[in-house]
Amino acid sequence: MNKLQDRQGRRFPYLRLSITDLCNFRCQYCLPDGCQEPQHKTAISLDEIRRIATAFAALGTNKIRISGGEPSLRSDFCSILRTVRDVPGIDTVAVTTNGYKMDRRIERWIDSGMTHLNVSIDSLEPAMFHRITGHDRLDEILRGIDIGFAAGLPSIKVNTVLMKNLNDRELDRFLDWIKDQPITVRMIELMETGDMPEFFNKHHLSGKVVRQQLLDKGWVQMIRPDNAGPAQEFSHPDYQGRIGLIMPYSKDFCDSCNRLRVNSQGDLQLCLFAEQGYSLRHLLQSDDQQELLTTRIQEVLQLKEDKHFLDQGFTGSTTNLSIIGG
Ligand code: GTP
Ligand code: 5AD
Ligand code: SF4
Repeated sequence: MNKLQDRQGRRFPYLRLSITDLCNFRCQYCLPDGCQEPQHKTAISLDEIRRIATAFAALGTNKIRISGGEPSLRSDFCSILRTVRDVPGIDTVAVTTNGYKMDRRIERWIDSGMTHLNVSIDSLEPAMFHRITGHDRLDEILRGIDIGFAAGLPSIKVNTVLMKNLNDRELDRFLDWIKDQPITVRMIELMETGDMPEFFNKHHLSGKVVRQQLLDKGWVQMIRPDNAGPAQEFSHPDYQGRIGLIMPYSKDFCDSCNRLRVNSQGDLQLCLFAEQGYSLRHLLQSDDQQELLTTRIQEVLQLKEDKHFLDQGFTGSTTNLSIIGG
């Protein structure tokens, strides 16, 4: 029974838990100058993570996505996966990663309880990948995906942030790549954050452009299940993979919001673009506080706004998405 319902009647079976704000990539739209002053030394501990997961599970959450920063930079990453997997009620332990050293590590992640993987690949062209992320690591990530499939993952999602004049001519390359692989490539519209209004104005491209290209090529929009997230998914009979479009600037995007976020300092964030978070940390210090914790989560949820105000240029306190994990 899901006890997480907001004033608009939306339910939240899905928690995105950021375990560190540290990241080693320098994606142009996120951390172009690398990670400055991260708060990783004060990130939530394994016990605090267990208490958060247990409280959300008691409120009806069944899916937890571990995000960052880059979550796998934590030396106790596999213990975190095992801890979350072992919480009764949690059946889906998903990870969002930049793919760093994934070829050497993914089997351990799967053994530790990861059931779903989303990995960022902004370009399939090595030089463009390097230019966007600051790292020449495309090959190791592609190898990591192959190893993930061989180790039993049924499908993998790839996140690609759409950027005008950078990767906007790569649709055919991505389509060829997913012809015979169960990969869903999600094209994400660039979202404006506090750090980068100029980059946003220069490179933002509406997902509608890709939508039209897909329809012209015979791709069909799939019916959205009730519990679906924000991506619109497309399939094609000749392709094993799918394409998802995440268009946060489209009307009614937030109506299907089904996720809450807790950042690495233990703040509950009601929206990616909210003005403030609500600290849970004082209620994460002992197992005896679980009831106080669940009550606080339910109370704070009542403050959730209907939607973001990005279309009016209001980015909230989000300076970049590395702090909150997207
Ligand atoms: P699934 O759990 O597989 O459905 O994917 P997800 O979209 O929740 O996870 P992922 O971490 O791969 O998210 C990809 C990106 O989509 C995020 O980092 C954001 O950029 C964007 N996104 C996901 N959820 C939201 C949301 O609720 N609001 C907005 N504005 N963007 C979102
Ligand atoms: N706009 C859109 N997507 C973003 N991501 C990070 N910053 C932005 C932004 N400003 C994406 C990354 C990654 C996911 C966690 O968030 O590409 O796939
Ligand atoms: Fe939910 Fe905020 Fe994303 Fe809208 S922008 S879908 S309210 S998290």
